[in-house]
Amino acid sequence: MSPLHVTRTLPEDATGAALRADVRHGLTAIPKTLPPKWFYDALGSELFERITGLPEYYPTRAEREILVARSGEIAAASGARTLIELGSGSSEKTRHLIDALASLEAYVPVDVSESALAQAGRALVAERPGLDVHALIADFTAPLELPATPGPRLVAFLGGTIGNLLPAERAEFLALVRSQLVPGDGLLLGTDLVKDERVLVRAYDDAAGVTAAFNKNVLAVVNRELGADFDPDAFEHVAVWDQDQEWIEMRLRSRAAQTVKVPALDLAVDFAAGEEMRTEVSAKFRRDGIGAELAAAGLELTHWWTDADDRFALSLSVVR
Ligand code: SAH
Ligand code: AVI
Repeated sequence: MSPLHVTRTLPEDATGAALRADVRHGLTAIPKTLPPKWFYDALGSELFERITGLPEYYPTRAEREILVARSGEIAAASGARTLIELGSGSSEKTRHLIDALASLEAYVPVDVSESALAQAGRALVAERPGLDVHALIADFTAPLELPATPGPRLVAFLGGTIGNLLPAERAEFLALVRSQLVPGDGLLLGTDLVKDERVLVRAYDDAAGVTAAFNKNVLAVVNRELGADFDPDAFEHVAVWDQDQEWIEMRLRSRAAQTVKVPALDLAVDFAAGEEMRTEVSAKFRRDGIGAELAAAGLELTHWWTDADDRFALSLSVVR
């Protein structure tokens, strides 16, 4: 069995320092915000996995449907010997792609969630002897220190996670991905598509309250890591569709006027009754729009596959 390599490319305190900077910036901004990457501690990653199985949350099923149907075509078009997956989480859907890529030698899952990476990495090494698995604990919005594995490389960014970046962050991210590719490499991108508002809002405000728990988990992360005294019950989960931006926005609404202390930042933050703090955007896409964003980053969209109900798309792009 090939060994599992796990590399932490974040310096020891980088996570803590980045969290402190993000929380200070976000809680002193108007309106208040917290970036979504802090959802994913061990519990947050587990809650996300539960979300993927909810009846209302269609993106995972729709993307899996595409991967099951199209992995052969994706593999033929890419011929990748190294698959790099950004924000890989459980790597569950990726198995279809791994199985189809006949020339694949190395799989490089990249995630900030150490627990998700370790679990997925161990399982893959056991299931796919012969595949080199190099797990990277890293932030995909920064340049990656990739292992020296053979090309061509296929970078996969699945789940619609690109929609969790704001437009300017997205442009920066795509340019960064492009800068790490050479001719012959490709980008496989999962994008959730614009659709009926009711379907979208239900997907982000499920009846069982799992998404609400996922949203509030960011408060537990700030409490644990920075000694804050957020009371999750004092906030309400909110999911709204922004028609102009074409994104779902998750927010936490303060149920009453309250002050939250964040000792690690020497900060006391006042919330008014009803005040909303943005915790995530989840942008939904159209083919022309994402094609233009890819082109602006120097990538050419060559293939576009959707599920039978046109809910979700996978696109393949190459270096122009
Ligand atoms: N790709 C999987 C998981 C999506 S959930 C799927 O399609 O089901 C989003 C994943 O991205 C989580 O595992 C989270 O830990 C990771 N993530 C979020 N922001 C990140 C960042 N800035 N750098 C690296 N990983 C990140
Ligand atoms: C990871 N990302 C694509 C998910 C999404 O749909 O935006 C995160 C999520 N937020 C609420 N539910 C799921």
